[in-house]
Amino acid sequence: MPLPLGRTAIPTDILVASPLRRNCMDALAESFTLHKLYEAADPAAVLGEVGPRIRGIAGSHVDSRLMEKLPKLEIIANFGVGYDTIDVVAARARGIKVTNTPNVLNDAVAEMTIGLMIALARRIPGADRFVREGKWPAGGYPLQRELTGKTVGILGLGRIGKEIAVRAQAMKMRVVYFGRHAQPREPYVYYDDLTKMARDADWLVVIAPGGEATERIVSRQVLAALGPEGFLANLGRGSLIDEPAMVEMLAAGQLGGAALDVFVDEPNVPEALFGLDNVLLSPHQGSATAETRDLMGQLLVDNLKAHFAGEPLLSQVV
Ligand code: 8YV
Repeated sequence: MPLPLGRTAIPTDILVASPLRRNCMDALAESFTLHKLYEAADPAAVLGEVGPRIRGIAGSHVDSRLMEKLPKLEIIANFGVGYDTIDVVAARARGIKVTNTPNVLNDAVAEMTIGLMIALARRIPGADRFVREGKWPAGGYPLQRELTGKTVGILGLGRIGKEIAVRAQAMKMRVVYFGRHAQPREPYVYYDDLTKMARDADWLVVIAPGGEATERIVSRQVLAALGPEGFLANLGRGSLIDEPAMVEMLAAGQLGGAALDVFVDEPNVPEALFGLDNVLLSPHQGSATAETRDLMGQLLVDNLKAHFAGEPLLSQVV
């Protein structure tokens, strides 16, 4: 009997390293044999049994120890544009390909950035609590700050950073940026010194990738330059910020406020932040919309299918 179109004669075993959306799992299951590592009661036993057959990984959090247990591994399709949870050095050394999910999440992350900035500047979560707690009849909510007319410094004017810049301009903000290189085609002022940019900006938006090159790039000195009137929005990675210094400075009023979607040790958030009014906390929601997560899942599946069909990858990083 002929095999259904698109199915290979020998089933290709894929390890699912982290939970994925239902429709992404369904799409994967149409072409591959799946093994859910994150559901295994005894992951070592599962790896011992299926490890020698695994040719691909779907999902994030793949270290060299896991790769070592998969001698036939050819490709890791990461769910997310940031691939800092994949040991790309180990992958490259073994000729294992790595793909990510760029572009499809730009709008969702940019929307969330502006949303968190407005919510922090106007203290919207506090205003909601104020009404619910019946405090309004006794007097109005304190006056807040606005984005209009302020300068936003973007750390990382990449694909997402550019979408944030467009939206920040719609908020009538002035946009400047810091990055490894000036981008002469962009209409925004470039800083080659992050501290200087922080000094000149009212807001610092962090949207550069994580990893060694950017670790703690937002140092105590940068935060001090942003200062007691300055606001920080981080939708990149927690690792970019000196988190202990940030917590201390927010508590002491040396930094005006922070809207934080990402943290060093997710899902654990420094408890010292919970009691601070000048902080808005968000559980890594940048790309977390149904629309965008579907598109990310589709891109992950398409990369795996392309690889096993011998076609060019759609978004290869290694
Ligand atoms: C991911 C992200 O969706 O794409 C990224 O790099 O930061 C996220 O929005 C998330 O990491 C997936 O778990």
